[in-house]
Amino acid sequence: MDLTTLRAKYIEAVAAAATEAALEDVRLAALGKKGEISALMATLGKMDPDQRKAAGAAMNLLRDEIDAALRAKKAGLADAALNERLRSEWLDVTLPGRPRPHGTIHPVSQVMEELTAIFADMGFAVAEGPQVESDWYNFDALNIPPEHPARQEHDTFFMHRAPGDNRPPHVLRTHTSPVQIRAMTENGAPIRVIAPGRVYRMDMDQTHTPMFHQVEGLAIDRDISMANLKWTLEEFCRAFFEVDRVELRFRASHFPFTEPSAEVDIRYSNVGGQLRIGEGDKWMEILGSGMVHPKVLAAAGVDPDKWQGFAFGMGIDRIAMLKYGIPDLRAFFESDLRWLRHYGFAALDMPDLAGGLSR
Ligand code: DAH
Repeated sequence: MDLTTLRAKYIEAVAAAATEAALEDVRLAALGKKGEISALMATLGKMDPDQRKAAGAAMNLLRDEIDAALRAKKAGLADAALNERLRSEWLDVTLPGRPRPHGTIHPVSQVMEELTAIFADMGFAVAEGPQVESDWYNFDALNIPPEHPARQEHDTFFMHRAPGDNRPPHVLRTHTSPVQIRAMTENGAPIRVIAPGRVYRMDMDQTHTPMFHQVEGLAIDRDISMANLKWTLEEFCRAFFEVDRVELRFRASHFPFTEPSAEVDIRYSNVGGQLRIGEGDKWMEILGSGMVHPKVLAAAGVDPDKWQGFAFGMGIDRIAMLKYGIPDLRAFFESDLRWLRHYGFAALDMPDLAGGLSR
C-alpha cells in the first residue's frame, strides 16, 4: 500500500472514531508495535542507503502526521466526555435545601397536643401559670393551710429566700392546681380551662421522677354537677385512647380543694405486656377530681353562692405510658436519642380530631 493510501485510510479512521476506546484501536492498528505503519517502517532496514533516506523521511512525516491527528482527536473526545458529564451531573446550587428532619416529637408533647385538641373540642381553653409558684397559690388558696397534713404529702422543693426575709418561700409547683386560682382570678366565672404543664416533687423510682407533667381541668358555671364531670372524663378517655368503649371507676377520696372528691380508675388488661384499654380486669388510677370547694372559689374571687363546678388533675406521663405502651417513666427524661426515635412522633403530624389523633 502506498503512503498516500495509508495516510487517507488512517486520517479517515481517526475522524470516524466516536469514543476514546475506538480511537485507541485505530492508534494500535497504525502505530502500535504490530501496527501497519510500524511494520512499514521495519522494512527500512532492508533498503539500500539512498532509498532508505528518501523513504525514511516520507514515513516519518506520515507517522508524525497520524500521531498528531490521534492526539488532537483524543483531546477532543476527552473534552466531549467531560462536557457530557458536566451536563448530566448538573446541580442547581441555588435550589432551596430539602430539610430532612431528624428530630421527633416527644410522647409528652404529643399527648399534650392530643389532649388539648380533645378538650378544645369540648370548649376548654388552655390556661398557664408559672412553675416557680408562691406558697399561697400552690397551697393556701387551694384550702391547704400551713398546718395541713397534705403539705407533707407533696414532697415540695422550696426556693431560697433572701436572709432576713421571713415570708414563706416560693416553691416549684407541686401540681397544676394553682392555675385554677390564677385562671379564675383573671377571668372570673363561667370558665372552662385546662392547664397542662410541668410539676415537681422530690421522688424518684420506676414510676416517679422529680419533674413530671399534669393537666388540670376546671369547669365553673351555674349548675355543673358530678354528672358533667363523669361525662367529660369518659368522653375524653374515649377520644384519647381511640377506643369505642372505656370504663371508668369513681372511688370516693379526699382532696382539700374539692368536696366531694373522687379518684378515677380506668379498666385495662395486660396480656403479655400488651396493655388494652376498656377490657380486662385491671384498674389503673389516672386522675383525681371533684366539685371545687367553696373556699377555693372564694379565694379566687368567685362567689360560691352563685357558681359551682368540677376540677380534675391527671398525670400526663402516665396516660402517655398507657396509650403508647411505654414501660419505664424515667426514660422519658433521659434524652436518649434511640428512645426518642423509637417512641417519638413525626414533627409535622399535628394531632387533630378529624384526621385521627395519633395516626
Ligand atoms: N392536685 C392533685 C394532685 O396533684 C390532683 C387533683 C385532684 C387535681 C383533684 C384536682 C382535683 O383539680 O379536683 O395530686
